[in-house]
Amino acid sequence: MQPIAQLSADQAQSRLNTLLAVGQPEITVADNHLLLANQKVDEIVAKFGSPLYVYSERVLRTRCKELRNFLQYEPFTPSYSCKANTNVTILKIIREEGFRADAMSPGEILLLRTAGFQPEEILYVGNNVSEAEMLYAIKAGVTVSIDSLAQLEQYGQLNPGGKVAIRINPGMGDGHHKKTITGGADSKFGVYYTDVNQIKAIIRRYNLKITGLNQHIGSNYLTGKVYLASVERLLSIAEQFDDLDFIDFGGGMGIPYCNETPRLDIAQLGAQVSAILKPWVQHYGKQITASIEPGRYLVAESGILFITVHSTKQNPGVAFVGTDGGFNVLARPMMYGSYHEILHTSHVHANDTMEVTVCGNICESGDLLGEERLLPKVTAKGDILAVLDAGAYGFSMSSNYNSRLRPAEVLLTQDGDLRLIRERDTLEGLLRQQIY
Ligand code: LLP
Repeated sequence: MQPIAQLSADQAQSRLNTLLAVGQPEITVADNHLLLANQKVDEIVAKFGSPLYVYSERVLRTRCKELRNFLQYEPFTPSYSCKANTNVTILKIIREEGFRADAMSPGEILLLRTAGFQPEEILYVGNNVSEAEMLYAIKAGVTVSIDSLAQLEQYGQLNPGGKVAIRINPGMGDGHHKKTITGGADSKFGVYYTDVNQIKAIIRRYNLKITGLNQHIGSNYLTGKVYLASVERLLSIAEQFDDLDFIDFGGGMGIPYCNETPRLDIAQLGAQVSAILKPWVQHYGKQITASIEPGRYLVAESGILFITVHSTKQNPGVAFVGTDGGFNVLARPMMYGSYHEILHTSHVHANDTMEVTVCGNICESGDLLGEERLLPKVTAKGDILAVLDAGAYGFSMSSNYNSRLRPAEVLLTQDGDLRLIRERDTLEGLLRQQIY
């Protein structure tokens, strides 16, 4: 048996770089087959069903440790933005690694509480929330962050004299796609940074106390340039408020979905933020708590989506590999044109490859997981493909579109076990809420 870490000079190796980078002994290659916990992927899929999400506990914990040490500043309490992956087992691991969490909905608050996060460890960063939702968060005892003047007014009416945080739009944004940029005048998020006086007027009217400021400028950036500028901007806004308890600089740290993409230097970015923050805190005159709220960086690389080839087709000029990996299972390629590496699991190295379009089984032409991909010529019905870096915004954005079933989720533990952590949907489940 050959650990992946010992493979060299092979195209397949670069596709497995993520797992390599953190030394992943539970994942190996033998006889050209990908093995998890010494089991062939075909056997695993036969047991748990296809499609299937598998998460590596080791990769997850490695990424958590990296961001737990992001700042050389204390107190530092990083949060996990759980919209990236809300599996309760994953949430528990992230909490064990010393993270708090941010939530976007009552559902996320419930899931976080179920995973053991205490109310004081949760920041509710809602957007356009109803009175009922805001009250749910207030009653749950979590810190509520407000992202418009109108919502601040609503909060004041619901909880006069209460404590509240404000999400600031720092007037700049960054991200892998315009749909994931969440700062700047075009963005619907946050109170615009020039509206400080209006914030103060509402605060006075309802006798509120602002405990902290947060921001999030967008998702999956691979250089820290705009992030650093937004840190400076947020601090310049923060100094206009007395007596803040915390400042949260947001998430968005990207991962290289494609191996040619250079990795974001997290340690350097953290050092740069620390260098800006430390003198600012001295000048502010109060030891505030610093935070960040990443989602993707913690979970993306831990997840592999296994899909099964159901049929192949040769059209003039295009070869299709048809799978059960529709965009109901992984929406990112369809929504943003996102790239995910796709690997054949029983021909990990193949010299005889051909260019193919890997597609799903959903009734839309855009249901393409990857175009112009090289897969072995022998790829055929029944083969299992691995879609890498699928741990963030994979299952959490999956759906029952076309009345298809959402997949099961499995944890590949550090001890080398494969543990079911979510059952696959059932056909009966599709009928559960219908009244007929
Ligand atoms: N904080 C807030 C308020 C957010 O809205 C988000 C993500 C995050 C933190 C975490 O961002 P991250 O560190 O994961 O980049 N579905 C898209 C990503 C949408 C992100 C939405 N907000 C994708 O698959 O690329």
